[in-house]
Amino acid sequence: MRRCNFCRTRLWRDGQRRLSLATVEFARDPTMKALPDSVSPQDLRAVLADIQHATGLPNACYTSQTCFEFEREAVLASSWAGLEFSSALAATGCVKPIDFMGLPLLITRDTEEGLIRVFHNVCSHRGMKLVPEASRLTGSIRCPYHSWTYDLAGKLRGTPHIGGIGVHTLDHFDPGCHGLKEISSAVWMGVIFININGQAGPFADFIAPVVARWEKLAGSQALNEVLDVPGDDGLSYEIACNWKLAIDNYCEAYHLPWIHPDLNSYSPLEEHAGFTLQDIGSGQISHSYTLAETAGIQLPRFDVWPRERLDYAEYLSLYPNVLLGIQADHVFALLVQPQTAGQTREKLELRYPSMEVRDARFEDARAAVKESWRVVFSEDIAAVEGMQTGRTSPAYSGGVFSSAMEVPTHHFHNWVARHYLRHGGAP
Ligand code: FES
Ligand SMILES: [Fe+2]
Repeated sequence: MRRCNFCRTRLWRDGQRRLSLATVEFARDPTMKALPDSVSPQDLRAVLADIQHATGLPNACYTSQTCFEFEREAVLASSWAGLEFSSALAATGCVKPIDFMGLPLLITRDTEEGLIRVFHNVCSHRGMKLVPEASRLTGSIRCPYHSWTYDLAGKLRGTPHIGGIGVHTLDHFDPGCHGLKEISSAVWMGVIFININGQAGPFADFIAPVVARWEKLAGSQALNEVLDVPGDDGLSYEIACNWKLAIDNYCEAYHLPWIHPDLNSYSPLEEHAGFTLQDIGSGQISHSYTLAETAGIQLPRFDVWPRERLDYAEYLSLYPNVLLGIQADHVFALLVQPQTAGQTREKLELRYPSMEVRDARFEDARAAVKESWRVVFSEDIAAVEGMQTGRTSPAYSGGVFSSAMEVPTHHFHNWVARHYLRHGGAP
């Protein structure tokens, strides 16, 4: 058997590489190497200008399905993107199919260590979608077509009658080369992150700036240990907007007084400031998040949270699609799940610093915190849907930014524009 000189995977006689469990290859559509026709390099370079002179991304980036598909490859597949909450696979043996911008993926939690893995949800035999619905398995994953079976780590375990009736092996067929195709994944703060093209580097390196920034608030380990409350469902929204508008809207507090009058009463605009975080995110800090005081809410707090900064909070857009919030007594993650160019799903999950919060005596406080965020995120829907509609107008193309209020928003646009240029082959 010949092997590839580069990666040592086995070659067929014609020199093609065979896919192994550890090697995920994409048949690259050559058109994906070029920018979509509706987006010019000039439009994108205009985004990279300094904020006083920059425009935002052009309308097609929000309305064109071709751009949406280009972004899957160029922006989300090349980054550490949020896929789902780990709580969606609470028990060992769970499998959950999930569509990621048109790609059929599969999340599994194994029965031994409870390890979560993500695979392409496609059988290695004739390409049947492998798992049609979420379930808890007691045995293997079984393909409904010819009954090939895989374990929860993706290894091919059974190939019934592959060698003829009653013969379940073939001389030239190595099951080790035909497992499920795994995608790099990591779980952090209850979010399952994936890097589809496998080129974004280790997750620990990616998330290190967030951990370093929040260590002084939550401790170095605490964000890995924040707890959900079984039975407390999160929130979810279906929104008629492009996914990037949800990120835009989270990057700035400028709209607070008009879209969120209630929030603005206990966390006012003048107490906010924007920040950017290296090349991975941007957002807002609030020096006056006083919900607990205002509503008389008492929840356990992070042990190390500075007692003189109990009203401090941060809201980080972690590019590409995870929105995070951290307060002294709870954190949340909002997953932005792109559906089509003009449709997005948002899923919110709240988490808490200690086991104690699961006590029934904190039920009302937890419900009050959740209700406050339900109101805030519901109020944003009209704003982002209005921006989506506006992007169908020929009278608008990118607009302008306030250099005082929208540095984080411009930072995000700049990040997306650079991904377009890099993957679109435009220098
Ligand atoms: S396509 Fe899955 S076993 Fe044949
Ligand atoms: Fe908002």
